[in-house]
Amino acid sequence: MEAASDAEGSRRFEDVARRLREPPVSDVFTPSDPAAETDIETAEAELAIMLPPLYRRFLREFGPAELGVDFLDVTPGSPQSLPAVRARKRKAWPPLPRRLVPFALGSAWVGPMKWGDSFLCFDLSRTTHGGEYRIASWTPQAPPRERLERMDVTFLEWLEGRVSDAERCVSPPRDWKNSDGWERYWARVLDDPMRRGWESRPEPHSAALRHRDFLTDRGLRRILFAGNGISLEPHVFAHCGFDVTAIDVSATASRFVAQSRLSRDQLASVFAAYDEVKSHRDDIKLEINEAHSRERVDREHVPGGRLHAITGDLFTHAPAGAYDVIYSSRALQGFTDQDRLILAHRFFDGLRPGGVALIETINIASMSEFTEDFEGAFREAGFFVHERNANTWLDEKRRARFTRRKDLMEAFRRREAAEWAEHARRLDGGDKMVLFWHSSG
Ligand SMILES: C[S@@+](CC[C@H](N)C(=O)[O-])C[C@H]1O[C@@H](n2cnc3c(N)ncnc32)[C@H](O)[C@@H]1O
Repeated sequence: MEAASDAEGSRRFEDVARRLREPPVSDVFTPSDPAAETDIETAEAELAIMLPPLYRRFLREFGPAELGVDFLDVTPGSPQSLPAVRARKRKAWPPLPRRLVPFALGSAWVGPMKWGDSFLCFDLSRTTHGGEYRIASWTPQAPPRERLERMDVTFLEWLEGRVSDAERCVSPPRDWKNSDGWERYWARVLDDPMRRGWESRPEPHSAALRHRDFLTDRGLRRILFAGNGISLEPHVFAHCGFDVTAIDVSATASRFVAQSRLSRDQLASVFAAYDEVKSHRDDIKLEINEAHSRERVDREHVPGGRLHAITGDLFTHAPAGAYDVIYSSRALQGFTDQDRLILAHRFFDGLRPGGVALIETINIASMSEFTEDFEGAFREAGFFVHERNANTWLDEKRRARFTRRKDLMEAFRRREAAEWAEHARRLDGGDKMVLFWHSSG
């Protein structure tokens, strides 16, 4: 920007504003109500500075938007306004340096398993031509030497960088109800052979596979893969004799699933059979036995399975007859609480008495509050929620009573069997159960 004239800056701003309004950036950019000129002037008076012209222009067009970071606002009296946040952070420990004026809030990694607030700030000590400032980031919880990071860019250059990143990155839409955004997302994923392979592979550890025997034993055969994306896991279930419907709002994703087939090698990787092999230090290692894995593929085959991959919306999908099982892998956590409650009710109504919902989520394993919100919606819809207590049931004291590991394992096994017997009794009585798998990766 140093050398850019006002006219050049203005032209570049218009270009970036256009790209923000168009896909793919518009799928991850959330504008807000434009800021009023009088509010911007009030904030400037409180801060006793002139805000950079191109940042002012951004606020007047897009308001306190979101683009990977949350922009602060300029509404007088708002706790998230630039002057309010600056005043608060000046008084906090460690105090925000006087020369910084925060304008957006993001997060940064501040230690093992720990994220902290990170503020994007105008650095008043580093002005450039045209009333612009260079930008710095301020991460109060980071180690002292890493708290302040000077970035050698102006607001416009930072924004251009963000927009280019958003154009390059293939990201799901921010608003999970943006079905065109999902369509674009899957079209771009399928264009990239690496991503396509990664996102479509059936998962050896998925909840659906782990519970397959339980479903088979109970005669639960008609299964809906809800919000399936391009996962080929439904094909594994068809191979095992299930009557599978895979639904997704993206026509491109559904077409891919309908037209794909799993090779024998892909099935063999799902039904991997292992040999126990002694390593040189006498440790036991598990090694895949490819011949046995292929034999297992044949053994697991149950004739009569079928797969329909359809394009449809979970909020309106009306199946012909109830499902025995609804499986949703990572397809609910992006919705609002209210939408999740609607879907929990729809899943409940879509299951036959004694039916089971398998819900796999991501990145909420360590957030117990969110886990409770999530499971609460399903309880409210009428499900009984499977609590897998076997691992937590023994506290330290009780655990200490078992001197032999074998006895402890046997106690776990009995406890788990009792829990499943209770579930079976409830399912036989017509209750509908939901099994959660909250993963952390
Ligand atoms: C994060 S992806 C998960 C995909 C897949 N289940 C997996 O685990 O890889 C969420 C999926 O939900 C789909 N989706 C979003 N809203 C939907 C809706 N209203 N009806 C059906 N599918 C929807 C998206 O298209 C996307 O494929």
